[in-house]
Amino acid sequence: MIRKAVFPAAGFGTRFLPATKASPKEMLPLVDMPLIQHGVEEAKMAGIRGMIIVTGRGKNVIEDHFDVAFELEMLLERKGNSDLLEMVRKVNKGVDFFYVRQNLPLGLGHAVLRSKDLVGDESFAVVLSDDVIDAKVPVLKQMIDACARYHADVALAIQRVPDEMVSKYGIIKGEEIGPGTYKVSDMVEKPSLEKAPSNLAIIGRYILPPSIFPVLAATRPGAAGEIQLTDAIRSLIENKRVIGYEFEGTRYDAGTKLGFQMANIAFAMKDPELASGLRAFLQKEKFT
Ligand code: UTP
Repeated sequence: MIRKAVFPAAGFGTRFLPATKASPKEMLPLVDMPLIQHGVEEAKMAGIRGMIIVTGRGKNVIEDHFDVAFELEMLLERKGNSDLLEMVRKVNKGVDFFYVRQNLPLGLGHAVLRSKDLVGDESFAVVLSDDVIDAKVPVLKQMIDACARYHADVALAIQRVPDEMVSKYGIIKGEEIGPGTYKVSDMVEKPSLEKAPSNLAIIGRYILPPSIFPVLAATRPGAAGEIQLTDAIRSLIENKRVIGYEFEGTRYDAGTKLGFQMANIAFAMKDPELASGLRAFLQKEKFT
């Protein structure tokens, strides 16, 4: 049973500068919903109720977004705009939000470590909201089910990537124990193609046990001087059952400009109000 999800959101988002100079990357909109809200909705649909957001300087707007917008709600109510009112209220309905700050962005592992006291002594999920996954069954739900099916302590969302992309990801070495499910025996962060044990890349969804925290606390900075989450998970392999799970769904790397634009087009095309207008525009301007 996974009750809490951690959303690291303290990075600088340098790939989106200047947009992210004063605004968080996690608040960039996918059509009309911020990236981080997509992640929260996914967690909600997987039955998770406690959302722990790791923020930092300049990220206060994330807290405001998930708070009650009293004046706005009053205004929409007075105008009788019930659709928008419902949409605004849905943002924080049925879930609790908790915040902790990461004073310096010392890496993903360090961000997760900051959530230790809020997570407590239970397994939890980690969601990187710039990995947007469009799936029939929420990916976190797929992973929670896989953990139960394969008696795993740790689950990593994985995806097969082309050779030229291998050096951009954490890559697993594993033995297939079920359809699309691998028992992980090793993993390496951003390897060269020659050193990569496979093409199976770790994507931004994790199920982790609380025993990751002491390991993170003892983990020294690795690649790029940051405390890497993959290094800590690697240390768990000996004593815990770690699986990599090839999820069903389409993933967009919305942490890059190209992936972000692709995600926007794909989500706009799913929106009946936008699809035909967007398609007509792309055809008229000969973009397709
Ligand atoms: P990224 O690797 O995409 O880093 O982090 P970033 O800083 O956001 O973006 P770039 O690379 O400079 O463009 C993945 C997620 O982990 C969070 C980020 O906020 C993002 O949601 N993160 C990363 C932290 O919370 N703390 C960190 O120290 C690093």
